[in-house]
Amino acid sequence: MIGRSKLGHLGLLTSGGDSPGMNAAIRAVVRGAHVHGLKVTGFLGGFDGLVNGHHRSLGPRDVSNIIQRGGTMLRSARSSAFMTAEGRAMAAVVLQDLGVEALVVVGGNGTFAGAEVFQKEHGVPAVGLPATIDNDLKGTDRSIGYDTAINTAVEAMDRIRDTASSHDRLFFVEVMGRDSGAIALDCAVAAGAEYVLVPEREEHIDQLIQAIKGADGAKSSSIVVVAEGETEGGAFQVARLVKEHLPHKDIRVTVIGHVQRGGSPTVQDRVLASRLGIAAVDALLRGDSNCMMGMINGQVTATRFSDAIIGHRAVDHDLFRVLRILAT
Ligand code: F6P
Repeated sequence: MIGRSKLGHLGLLTSGGDSPGMNAAIRAVVRGAHVHGLKVTGFLGGFDGLVNGHHRSLGPRDVSNIIQRGGTMLRSARSSAFMTAEGRAMAAVVLQDLGVEALVVVGGNGTFAGAEVFQKEHGVPAVGLPATIDNDLKGTDRSIGYDTAINTAVEAMDRIRDTASSHDRLFFVEVMGRDSGAIALDCAVAAGAEYVLVPEREEHIDQLIQAIKGADGAKSSSIVVVAEGETEGGAFQVARLVKEHLPHKDIRVTVIGHVQRGGSPTVQDRVLASRLGIAAVDALLRGDSNCMMGMINGQVTATRFSDAIIGHRAVDHDLFRVLRILAT
């Protein structure tokens, strides 16, 4: 652990799938560090930047005019080199040569797993910021980027509803979420969808058919929200199965895809990223590390990396009931 007086130089990187608000987090870390007289070096392209020594120094003016921008000015990647012991050893040498004493890593499960093993092997303290549109991390009510992603997806669904009702069509709308149905479930409720399919719940296609049949005649259009990781194999596959049972239905499929990952972050994501970015610097200054800073019930909270990444954050199961009632 590094004591407050010893810390003088931080490394910062964004890793994994990008999410709106990563730039706001970068800005907060850089300026939060600056007020304590700390130098910040940003590594480019996630952990690859550490392994290959691609970096730039970041001062408070280098992060001007980015809070409103999606993506990440440091770029991001899922580094295969850093998954090897050799790659991590190269990264440790890069940090030593630069005099970087601690890291702030912004990302999701894979990012924190990498930082944890790096701290264990090479003693480099790291604090994480939860940034993933999936909202699948334990230790925070919301991850940075989630709010923007669900608002983007719901806006798309509202547009789909317009055309769906004009043509009396059944739409299957696929949203992201490889292992988590959080996006799908919140969007289904917010867009007034008729049904939702998520990875957390094994579905019987018969139940879905019954729900669609129940709505048939009474409704001019229906939207079924499908998380990409749901158990049947995605929106196209589900649509194909439903068409076999309901050949008379006029069915269309829309995959929203990476549209959800881009765009200007919402106020909620900007504020969350700003608070947590400063909290990460404060944590390192206190000598805390090997943990992710999150927000639980409005309070900044540190959760050990190992606890944040074990399994996936559970979806709110009451929302299935809410959706069922509202879809009648
Ligand atoms: O983890 C975020 C996420 O957007 C997932 O929802 C999705 O499955 C995945 O990343 C897509 O990754 P890529 O951008 O590499 O296609």
